[in-house]
Amino acid sequence: MRKKIIQEILDNKSKFISGEELSKKLGISRTAVWKHIKSLREEGYNIESVNKKGYRLIEKPDDLLTYDNIYHNLHTKILGKKIIHFDTIDSTNDYAKKIGNEESEGAVIISEEQTKGRGRLGRNWHSNSYEGIWMSIILKPNIVPYKAPFITLIAGASIVEALNKLGVNAKIKWPNDIILNEKKICGILTELSAEIERINHIVLGIGINVKTMEFSQEICDVATSLYKENYIVSRVDIVRNILLEFESLYLEYINNNSKEKVLDICRRHSAIIGKEIYTIRGEEKELVRCLDINEEGNLIIKRNDGSIKEIISGEISI
Ligand code: BTN
Repeated sequence: MRKKIIQEILDNKSKFISGEELSKKLGISRTAVWKHIKSLREEGYNIESVNKKGYRLIEKPDDLLTYDNIYHNLHTKILGKKIIHFDTIDSTNDYAKKIGNEESEGAVIISEEQTKGRGRLGRNWHSNSYEGIWMSIILKPNIVPYKAPFITLIAGASIVEALNKLGVNAKIKWPNDIILNEKKICGILTELSAEIERINHIVLGIGINVKTMEFSQEICDVATSLYKENYIVSRVDIVRNILLEFESLYLEYINNNSKEKVLDICRRHSAIIGKEIYTIRGEEKELVRCLDINEEGNLIIKRNDGSIKEIISGEISI
């Protein structure tokens, strides 16, 4: 009976199923349904119950983003050897910045919820419980600081590769966003602590909307989640794949200054190359054609007057 209940709730994915419907389908009383739900919760199933709506499975016990679930049989050399897992925290980037100097390279800070998740340009990043992947990776590359921005591209490339290997046809909107069906599912916030000639540490923050079904009015036209686009993928599998992909591309860059694979992925999975886009600087918006990403990882665009320009950083919109 326990298995049947789990199956029913799982079949409903992230939708609610009422106690009455469950009791009819399974031929047991509503009290019996409730008792089974209670014991499932004790086993670690996170089942939400809402008055007049019913029950909804938020998390299976094996999908929590803990060290045990993520690091099991993961063959990385440095990434994820230490995973600091929180049920809730203000921001994983803020925490990583605090411990960045003492902690060793590759440590991952991950939380089921963030109460003050931060996006780029001082924006908020909505990070509800169990709905996504909110994580920060501490990096200590022995490179000069001006080479650090490329690490954002490495992150984008590894996220897209990781998702593609799980059957999700995600694309990169240079330099920081991952897009699915024209809407944003993931953002990257790279923060640097450095002196003029050397890096103390980098905090690579990654936020992926996995199960979020409702977005606030201000972002609902531009944001989406994997579940909303009908991709039911395990958060643990996504994190494991990202750590694997990222480590290999990162070490090639740090040790051999090799950018080729990253550039190839960014070009092949670009959401903007060959398209008209807007470049945004403050209040100014300019319609341009996106031509390519060059060997440095910068964007090459063609303006309306025919001139070609290289963009090093900044915001663009599709
Ligand atoms: C963006 O604006 O697109 C970047 C969003 C980055 C969000 C992630 S979630 C984990 C980490 N902690 C934060 O506070 N922000 C980043």
